[in-house]
Amino acid sequence: VSKDAEKMIEAHELLKKFYHHLLVNTKEGQQALDYLLNRGFTKEIIDTFEIGYALDSWDFITKFLVKRGFDGSLMEEAGLLVKKNNSDEYFDRFRNRIMFPIADHNGMTIAFSGRVLGDEKPKYLNSPETKIFNKSKLLYNFHRARVHIRKNQQAILFEGFADVISSTRSGVQNAIATMGTSLTDEQAKIIRRNVSEIIICYDSDSAGIEATIRASKILKDAGCKIKVAMIPDGLDPDDYIQKFGSDKFKNDVIGASVSLMTFKMSYYRRGKNLQNEGERLQYIENVILELSKLESAVEKEIYLKQISRDFDLSMEVLKDQLHQKEQQIK
Ligand code: CTP
Ligand code: MN
Ligand code: MN
Ligand code: MN
Ligand code: MN
Repeated sequence: VSKDAEKMIEAHELLKKFYHHLLVNTKEGQQALDYLLNRGFTKEIIDTFEIGYALDSWDFITKFLVKRGFDGSLMEEAGLLVKKNNSDEYFDRFRNRIMFPIADHNGMTIAFSGRVLGDEKPKYLNSPETKIFNKSKLLYNFHRARVHIRKNQQAILFEGFADVISSTRSGVQNAIATMGTSLTDEQAKIIRRNVSEIIICYDSDSAGIEATIRASKILKDAGCKIKVAMIPDGLDPDDYIQKFGSDKFKNDVIGASVSLMTFKMSYYRRGKNLQNEGERLQYIENVILELSKLESAVEKEIYLKQISRDFDLSMEVLKDQLHQKEQQIK
């Protein structure tokens, strides 16, 4: 690690503690603290995740860092400060936001994501890519989750910060997140190096459902065994836990996670009226195409039987259809 990188990490570690102090101990942080408590975050979980608050100020952090001997241009490179146009002055990147520290896989703070307290855009403002923060090679909370992932021989992949934090609070601690962006090959390899089974638990809105399909391909290529935990009603995992509690999350969501094939079957059923003959045929066609890509003959048989029962079709016809598809994709 270069001297510059060391300094950047030092600044992040220092600010993480300072932002946390502002949130939990000061009048200025009270509104942000109330917001979090209202959302179901506890004092304890705020401490565990070292959540903080950035003051509503343009120069507080700039002065704070310069006073402690950090070089302005290096702090700009670190993503903590922004350079004013046509001048060599800087201002604070993060203002009036709830601060989620992002750690590397050894637990060193290397970036932040700041959430607005209301509905303004962007909802989350992230540190830019820097020499210490490479988003595509990082999974949120990996450094805390690793021991639980190893112990459970399973990891749970979420979209965002609040999902990981609520999951942890409900006792499901093998929780990591991609922070919104699509899962990368590098992230999938990191997961596979630590565990073979992964449960994808993304939001149940359209974006989350589409992202589940994409992530499953990448994880499969990396050699992972995939399950999907489905959240109902367009909620996200954090919403679900607030609404239904930890036990239901553990039992009815994580405990009831399904095979990727079962998830795909419900994906292809989405928005379709299976009473309609054309839509029903389309659905069966989609499922059989998916089955043709499966390796296990036993799995193929299980799902074919299911279709045979559900739609009152003979196994012979379904098997013929499957063999045709298998020839086509060869
Ligand atoms: N995200 C981001 N920038 C945004 C929106 C989202 O980086 N402008 C990332 C964050 O890591 C966020 C994740 O994508 O946690 C998932 O996005 P979304 O589901 O929209 O947000 P939530 O995590 O549900 O946020 P919240 O519960 O705080 O509203
Ligand atoms: Mn604390
Ligand atoms: Mn989402
Ligand atoms: Mn969400
Ligand atoms: Mn949410």
